[in-house]
Amino acid sequence: MGAAHVVIFPLPIQGPVNCMLKLSQLILSKSEAAISITFLTTDFIHGRLSNHSKAVPHFAEMEPNNFRFETVSDGLGPDDNPRGAYQLADMTCFLEDQAQTQGSKLRQVLCYGSSEFEFKKRVSCIIADGFFGFMVDVAKDLTIPVVYFETISPSGLWTYLCVPNMIAAADLPFQGNNLDATVTSVPGMEAYLRRRDLPSFCRTYNPKTAIIQLVLKQALNFPRAQGHILNTFDELEGDYFPHLRHLCPNLYNIGPLHLHLKCRMKHKMTNNLFSSSLWEEDRMCLNWLDEQPQNSVIFVSIGSLAVITREQLMEIWFGLVNSKVRFLWVQRPNSIMNDSNGVTEGQDLVVPNEVIEGTKERGCIVSWAPQEEVLSHKAIGGFLTHSGWNSTLESIVEGVPMICWPFFVDQQVNSRLVNEVWKIGLDMKDKCDRVVIEKMIKELMENQRDMFLLKANEWAELATKAVSEDGSSYNSLNRLIEDIRFIRFSIPL
Ligand code: UDX
Repeated sequence: MGAAHVVIFPLPIQGPVNCMLKLSQLILSKSEAAISITFLTTDFIHGRLSNHSKAVPHFAEMEPNNFRFETVSDGLGPDDNPRGAYQLADMTCFLEDQAQTQGSKLRQVLCYGSSEFEFKKRVSCIIADGFFGFMVDVAKDLTIPVVYFETISPSGLWTYLCVPNMIAAADLPFQGNNLDATVTSVPGMEAYLRRRDLPSFCRTYNPKTAIIQLVLKQALNFPRAQGHILNTFDELEGDYFPHLRHLCPNLYNIGPLHLHLKCRMKHKMTNNLFSSSLWEEDRMCLNWLDEQPQNSVIFVSIGSLAVITREQLMEIWFGLVNSKVRFLWVQRPNSIMNDSNGVTEGQDLVVPNEVIEGTKERGCIVSWAPQEEVLSHKAIGGFLTHSGWNSTLESIVEGVPMICWPFFVDQQVNSRLVNEVWKIGLDMKDKCDRVVIEKMIKELMENQRDMFLLKANEWAELATKAVSEDGSSYNSLNRLIEDIRFIRFSIPL
């Protein structure tokens, strides 16, 4: 085992797990740094990774001495509980409680990397998901430094951190129903931020909801961490970023992570790139894409947590078919809500013949796709996305313009930036109407295509520069690894 020992603890959902596995690989790729990693996740996530991805055998084979998985319960019961977006707050509260309980397995892993004597080794640094605002107090108790990995977008994070500001300025809770009113209490975003672009949890008249309480704790504890890792690159960040830096000067912008990993692994002899999907990937869709003309297909996915109603699903379906554009659509299991707010399976849907025929002619539907490969396929010309931060970055890297239909948390902010700041797509938030969808698809794939492509290619080029040797993200990652290696962090106050 290396001298420095890091516990990496992502929020147990797809996006953050993807990011932190990639971060682990990047840290371990600097073998001279001699850092060992304990990757802490839940039994549920570990089971999914074991069944559907190559992550578990990859680390066992490539890093037998420097990497271990450790698992704890998420408190959400048996595996057939779908663990939807609405359970995130409950799960986080459960993990907080466990982390604060003397002698719990979670606390032992945070302190020693394991609860079993033979694997115990004092932890020198915890890298925790930024959503775990409670972690600074736990780390202080354990006398271990903590660095946060903010797996949401930096722009989304900035709005979270401004929630206390917004409450003080009486911007929150909203007065009246006008979602188009501008928000002035988020410094650096005054020029474009409307109420509807704020994180979804701001749309409440009750500032005491569990998620707002968690965000307030996150805001309070943000400056107490030793540093923050961000999945972004300097060139992408805008006017609000100096304000964020002012709150915590030690920021590590090391993204886009997936591209960074590809770049650093380019010269290795073995294949170090693997999927960390929590669902079985349907790779047949790549064969289908091979048969489609260049830039002709729009890819549709709402990520790993978002759900839609049957009505919304049918509006999207009609919009796609009526646009006459080819489409590849991920309909994730358990993503369709029924009338009682539970989830239902697709077979309960009554789909009109014209839609079935249009789909046979021009569509392909899968339950989970190898998304990074799909977005880099030459047949892809656009992405109808829920604007999750990983999906947004994956699209930016491939220069693929987007139609954004955000569901929750940072996604409302991300979609605004895609449209207004980076100018690489259209923001469809709060609308789900077949006519609007058809029109936007035509705008993206045909009428405004050249304009979007020009900007998208510019950002893609900047992303590549950032992760190439001596680029901003490249240097930032080296600094992070050296800081971990020589334990240049102190204990939270
Ligand atoms: C969650 C939040 O919803 C998001 O807003 C936040 O920014 C990060 O955490 P999630 O729904 O998991 O995100 O979306 P996203 O961040 O886009 O991550 C989804 C990941 O799943 C991406 O890396 C994507 O490549 C992958 N994916 C998605 C697949 O591999 N296959 C699919 O079919 C769909």
